[in-house]
Amino acid sequence: MNVGRLNHIGIATPDIAATRDAYAALYGLEKATEIKEFPKLGVKVCFIDTGNTELELLEPLGAESPVNRFLEKNPKGGQHHLCFEVPDIIAARDAMRGKGATVLGTGEPYIGAHGVPVIFVHPKDTHGVLIELMQEPA
Ligand code: CO
Repeated sequence: MNVGRLNHIGIATPDIAATRDAYAALYGLEKATEIKEFPKLGVKVCFIDTGNTELELLEPLGAESPVNRFLEKNPKGGQHHLCFEVPDIIAARDAMRGKGATVLGTGEPYIGAHGVPVIFVHPKDTHGVLIELMQEPA
């Protein structure tokens, strides 16, 4: 299995609006979506269009948020994950397992903030970087 394009770079932050504004002020990245809440995913999300990919800003929503542990280690926020597109999420998951990588959670794909199925692969398998694989948007 080979991955497709880099869909986005995930960035965790304790203050999503301030982070969005910093990218606009410093780098002219002003094409940002509205901040949306995804209670089931435990995050507030805002996407910034950079021209060739997106930044996915993630602020925790609720005590069970998967981003909380990251912010405990990195209180000011930071790069959280990379997301690559794949043509078939189930085939991608099976390929990752076949190569000995650790798919997080149950390994069952779930619908992410882009509305398509995603899985996450443990950062230990890429020397410290959490990888999200996303079914190519139709
Ligand atoms: Co993501």
